[in-house]
Amino acid sequence: MNVKIQLLKEMINESKKIVFFGGAGVSTESGIKDFRSADGIYMMDYKYPPESVLSHSFYVQHTAEFYDFYREYLCFPDAKPNMAHFKLAELEQSGKLKAVITQNVDGLHQLAGSKTVYELHGSALRNYCVKCGKSHDFDFVYKSNGIPKCECGGTVKPDVVLYEESLNDEVVSGAIKAIKKADMLIVAGTSLTVYPAAGFIRYFKGKNLVLINKDATAMDENFGLVIHGKVGEVLREAV
Ligand code: APR
Repeated sequence: MNVKIQLLKEMINESKKIVFFGGAGVSTESGIKDFRSADGIYMMDYKYPPESVLSHSFYVQHTAEFYDFYREYLCFPDAKPNMAHFKLAELEQSGKLKAVITQNVDGLHQLAGSKTVYELHGSALRNYCVKCGKSHDFDFVYKSNGIPKCECGGTVKPDVVLYEESLNDEVVSGAIKAIKKADMLIVAGTSLTVYPAAGFIRYFKGKNLVLINKDATAMDENFGLVIHGKVGEVLREAV
């Protein structure tokens, strides 16, 4: 086992209040593309710049095209949790991990058994009518054509935070509180480029700050331990 993995293992063993902060790179081993890797969603040719599609103004101005893109690139009905999700659920069951904070909307942490999950950018598994507020399940939007409509005539919108939209206050305060109390923060599978999420790291005041990421990030030097590798493989060895 390489020295860094051994170090990670020792940090996990000595820590009692671990928090995990993850991004799209945690789900790539489940077959879900991330956004900014070479083969990421934002790197593909599309009739509009992909990152602009996931914005509130695009949703308002090109609603039908938004749903086409959303169903194609942000809905993964067959995705299954991978080793990273399962190892984090295991760490929570052991009492060592107190919370998962994720930027992902795929619900795979909960599917793997994690109980305390802060979904900073919401979830594609939840949808609501913008007119009457009624909840609709994943299939209601995924299996719809064009713009999904509620029985009341209102548009059914995914509970996903688009650019220009604000994060849920309760989720934000829960996540920050968990990070402030943590003695170890494991950050993984994120380019740490999107705020406010990427800024949450600054609330960590504990001892062990670790980054597990396939590619280097602009914030690597802020971490005590940086492992460039696949988070599923690293956690399989370290947990
Ligand atoms: N293991 C570890 N790291 C990985 C893996 C893996 N198996 N696969 C990819 N990565 C890394 C990539 O190297 C990349 O640095 O994960 C990172 C993913 O970065 P992004 O694609 O930018 O995803 P993320 O950081 O989650 O994006 C944040 O941007 O558009 C918004 O709302 C969207 O939540 C998303 C936010």
